[in-house]
Amino acid sequence: MPYFIPLCVYFVLVLSPVMTAPLSEDIDVLVFLPQNNSYLFSHARVAPAILYAQRRLEADGGPYSGFRFNIQFENSDCVNDALFALVDRSCGQKPDLILGPVCEYEAAALVRLASHWHIPVVSAGALAAGFSNKNGEYSHLTRIAPSYVKMAETFTAMFEHFSWRSALLVYEDDKLERNCYFTLEGVYHQMSDYNTKIYSIYQEDRLDTEDILQNMHDTEVVIMCMGADKIREIMLAAHRRRLTNGNCLFFNVELFNASSYGNGSWKRGDMFDNDARQAYASLNTVTLLRTVKPEFENFSMEMKRSIEKAGLHDCDDCGSVNMFVEGFHDAMLLYAIALHEAMRSGYSKKNGTEITSHMWNRTFEGIAGQVSMDVNGDRNGDFSLMAMTNFEAGSYEVVANYFGVNGTFQLLPAFNIERFTLKGRSKTPTELSEKSCGLGVSALTGVIVGAVLGTAMLIAFYFFRKNYRITIERRTHNEESDTRKHRQLREDSIRSNFSAA
Ligand SMILES: *[C@@H]1O[C@H](CO)[C@@H](O)[C@H](O)[C@H]1NC(C)=O
Ligand SMILES: *[C@@H]1O[C@H](CO)[C@@H](O)[C@H](O)[C@H]1NC(C)=O
Ligand SMILES: *[C@@H]1O[C@H](CO)[C@@H](O)[C@H](O)[C@H]1NC(C)=O
Ligand SMILES: *[C@@H]1O[C@H](CO)[C@@H](O)[C@H](O)[C@H]1NC(C)=O
Ligand SMILES: *[C@@H]1O[C@H](CO)[C@@H](O)[C@H](O)[C@H]1NC(C)=O
Ligand SMILES: *[C@@H]1O[C@H](CO)[C@@H](O)[C@H](O)[C@H]1NC(C)=O
Ligand SMILES: *[C@@H]1O[C@H](CO)[C@@H](O)[C@H](O)[C@H]1NC(C)=O
Repeated sequence: MPYFIPLCVYFVLVLSPVMTAPLSEDIDVLVFLPQNNSYLFSHARVAPAILYAQRRLEADGGPYSGFRFNIQFENSDCVNDALFALVDRSCGQKPDLILGPVCEYEAAALVRLASHWHIPVVSAGALAAGFSNKNGEYSHLTRIAPSYVKMAETFTAMFEHFSWRSALLVYEDDKLERNCYFTLEGVYHQMSDYNTKIYSIYQEDRLDTEDILQNMHDTEVVIMCMGADKIREIMLAAHRRRLTNGNCLFFNVELFNASSYGNGSWKRGDMFDNDARQAYASLNTVTLLRTVKPEFENFSMEMKRSIEKAGLHDCDDCGSVNMFVEGFHDAMLLYAIALHEAMRSGYSKKNGTEITSHMWNRTFEGIAGQVSMDVNGDRNGDFSLMAMTNFEAGSYEVVANYFGVNGTFQLLPAFNIERFTLKGRSKTPTELSEKSCGLGVSALTGVIVGAVLGTAMLIAFYFFRKNYRITIERRTHNEESDTRKHRQLREDSIRSNFSAA
């Protein structure tokens, strides 16, 4: 007899998922997306994907058909709107799930509050390295798009594979959303075993290509993140100085905007087109690996249709499915899976901590293919390396892929080892670095180091004094010098942003 009761319980537990009707629950979802269509993750682009996911989840017959999602959209202005909207709404009923925001600084404030309230946040943004620390204030954040640190694994895989040792990271800083700053911060963070230098360009300053080229002399690899025009200017200058003949390898990172790299990205219809084409033969682009499957075609077509129906005029490529669109679709799916699992184990939708833990360390079938979440709640990323393969036409192809799940770097048939071999390195480094260690470079290093230290301190300040753990911690031994200007600018912008807060 004593055996029977546990046995019955066992049968009930095992059989109940099969026998019971779908779980039913009403779920309040609060979504933060910018109305401004200059963002790739604007409301007009992403909202149709979220609604598409809702329709499919609620459709009859599926395991989640008992869920009713009550979706509210709020504006995100990449500064404070999202935080204020959450606070204002939460005087009544707190949402069960938050999607977004994407912008780093805005997400930092919002995720901290949401984590304090144990509300799960799923975002296709918040990609900066600082969000990886889920032990404290970002405990309820799940990142459904691969973060910048995941992207940087592509570089460490290449560095290891080709035995490169040193890199110069050149980025453009707008001192507002700072996407390129955070992109290369991820690389810096990941490449602590290599000799890395940083060079930042303030967006509004004139580009001093001489300065940048001076710094390239003692590095093997240059990794850039900036606007397409500035990349072209640097590549043209490097080409004139014969740095593109294999002395140096050039990479740029462009994860999200597929229309800004690859075929024809060197073309401007000016007198430099021919030089630019030659220069770009040594410029390789790291971007997201995108997969498609039959289901995705339907999704993609539906996205185009809803954009057309909305009749948007300020939104040229809004119908194209980028990583944000895909990510927020999959965010709905992931939450539904996690909530379903948690409810089956006897938890309610109000236990955000439990639901969040069900979203981590799992793989599931997303709209474009398999999505793999690591144990830390961050998506493992797959990335492609594109390089010029036809030098006459100046056209690009994917030549290698990096798979984050298993950390493999896969070379494709189009890969040409010649283009990734450093030439003339054995004798030149000492000679060149000595030459370039004159006045220009040491002053410059001071500026770079100073700017990094300065911005690091200011970011700490920006995030209400103590909250954001800045990951640029490793310091070069040089003294701080000409940073006052940078710091001044930063402080001014902080004051104007936060004086009202
Ligand atoms: C949208 O954002 C862009 C760039 O951030 C800005 O220049 C523009 O003024 C914004 N438009 C509106 C209507 O706020
Ligand atoms: C994407 O890249 C194209 C080409 O460089 C550019 O015109 C466009 O403004 C970019 N879109 C966004 C949203 O950054
Ligand atoms: C795509 O949509 C069509 C019609 O809406 C449907 O018949 C077809 O099964 C869908 N294909 C996939 C792979 O979902
Ligand atoms: C949520 O679930 C966890 C177990 O994962 C439990 O320790 C905690 O007390 C629950 N919280 C609430 C508010 O029910
Ligand atoms: C992650 O999942 C795997 C199998 O799915 C399991 O073996 C492992 O213990 C899990 N890790 C954590 C930290 O939960
Ligand atoms: C670039 O053009 C070539 C030839 O026209 C084509 O094979 C290739 O797929 C294109 N690459 C991209 C990334 O669009
Ligand atoms: C790594 O994962 C990718 C994608 O899932 C797969 O195609 C590849 O074969 C895997 N490589 C190894 C060595 O397991």
